[in-house]
Amino acid sequence: MFKDKKIVFSGVQPSGTLTIGNYLGAIRNFTAFPEDHHCYYCVVDEHAITVRQVPAELRRRTYETLALYIACGLDPEKNTLFVQSHVSEHAELAWILNCYTMFGELSRMTQFKDKSAKHADNINAGLFTYPSLMAADILLYQTDLVPVGSDQKQHLELSRDIAMRFNGVYSDTFTVPEPYIPEAGARIMSLADPTKKMSKSDENENAVVRILDDRDAIIRKFKRAVTDSGSEVRRGEGKDGVGNLMSIYSAFTGKTDVEIEREFEGRGYGEFKAAVGEACADALAPVKAEFDRLMGDKKYLEDVMAKGAAEAKQNAARTMSKVRRKIGFIEARRPF
Ligand code: TRP
Repeated sequence: MFKDKKIVFSGVQPSGTLTIGNYLGAIRNFTAFPEDHHCYYCVVDEHAITVRQVPAELRRRTYETLALYIACGLDPEKNTLFVQSHVSEHAELAWILNCYTMFGELSRMTQFKDKSAKHADNINAGLFTYPSLMAADILLYQTDLVPVGSDQKQHLELSRDIAMRFNGVYSDTFTVPEPYIPEAGARIMSLADPTKKMSKSDENENAVVRILDDRDAIIRKFKRAVTDSGSEVRRGEGKDGVGNLMSIYSAFTGKTDVEIEREFEGRGYGEFKAAVGEACADALAPVKAEFDRLMGDKKYLEDVMAKGAAEAKQNAARTMSKVRRKIGFIEARRPF
């Protein structure tokens, strides 16, 4: 397919409230693509229902996730911001790709294993085929680059395998996407257990800093962050907690490890943790203010969704008609 720009696609689930891990590892980097890229950012509500959702909360979080995209700097005039369920081609292509995805491949997905252990009473087929819907999201737009956190790398590799398999059977149909995993902030760990990834669904609120936490909460959580019995600000064996705080500080301030070590030489963990909290709160304050303003203007958010869905649909429909033709489906004449 002819493309005059590189295509970027990413998605965020409207479940849970987003953490600084989501911000540093994904959303913040979404704004960094140059003008010769066209970016699609999708609120993936269809993925969210693979675990039980309260309808009113799902609806609110869908607005919130879109508002957060915009508050983090994504301009709806320059990017396609939309809601997955508004573009029916996602579900449609997901079904087709399910038929080119192997049971064994899906069984090996670590997110499926983790989530089915966590939701043992609801191991539904959607949770299992989650990665084929994700592949559909990406492949519909002939995506070149997918910015994601490192936890999504396995799903992205499967998307590539599905694309290559389909292309191998039917000749070139899909662009094979590349992951784009930013280094700084790629893996922000829990403040309570720095061997575990910071997760938006963690039950321990002190483990997680959320983009929309207020200043006091942010500073308090960093003060309570688990470190070790030493006092030196540097990375090392048994110093996962300090290392994580250094990564966070570095991601918010742009300082290198060496600069951070020098800055806190002889000052102890207390002062360091306070500085990390301040840096994080300062960086997030304008995001939160803009988010609050946008959430007060639902009409604007709905306009953005409608415009984004129309743009997305036009391109998704093009890929779908190509896919139908290659598979041997008869293109339906419209109107029926
Ligand atoms: N699975 C991703 C996550 O939980 C969200 C997602 C859905 C996504 N579809 C996508 C990310 C397509 C990138 C591209 O983080």
